[in-house]
Amino acid sequence: MAALSIHHIGVAVENLDEAAQLWAALFGAAVEHRDTVEDQGVEAASLRTGSGRVELLAPLGPDTPVGRFLAKRGPGMHHVAFEVADLAAELDRLRRDGVELIDEVPRRGLFGLQVAFVHPEATGGVLAELVMDERR
Ligand code: CO
Repeated sequence: MAALSIHHIGVAVENLDEAAQLWAALFGAAVEHRDTVEDQGVEAASLRTGSGRVELLAPLGPDTPVGRFLAKRGPGMHHVAFEVADLAAELDRLRRDGVELIDEVPRRGLFGLQVAFVHPEATGGVLAELVMDERR
């Protein structure tokens, strides 16, 4: 198979407004979307950076995946997301190969996109997201 292209980098932050201002000032990355996903306990901002994106993730509370990540590791790189054309097919392929998945089936991610996460145990310590994005 061909290597997948990077869709975005996810970054865990304490304060979404402050982080968005910082990334704009440092790198000229403008916010294109903001979204809250209650069932993931996260508020996010997607920043356009040339052909790619940075996704800033702030927890809605301490007892959420990103809240626990911040408590354990502090702010910083959270995940890398790869764009795929057919998410269900990619998940089938990985499952057939015995890869440990967090999501066995696609779920709704930020900005209404279909996403699924691959367990960091399977990648050498990096949380990986697969995403289908028909916006571009
Ligand atoms: Co993401």
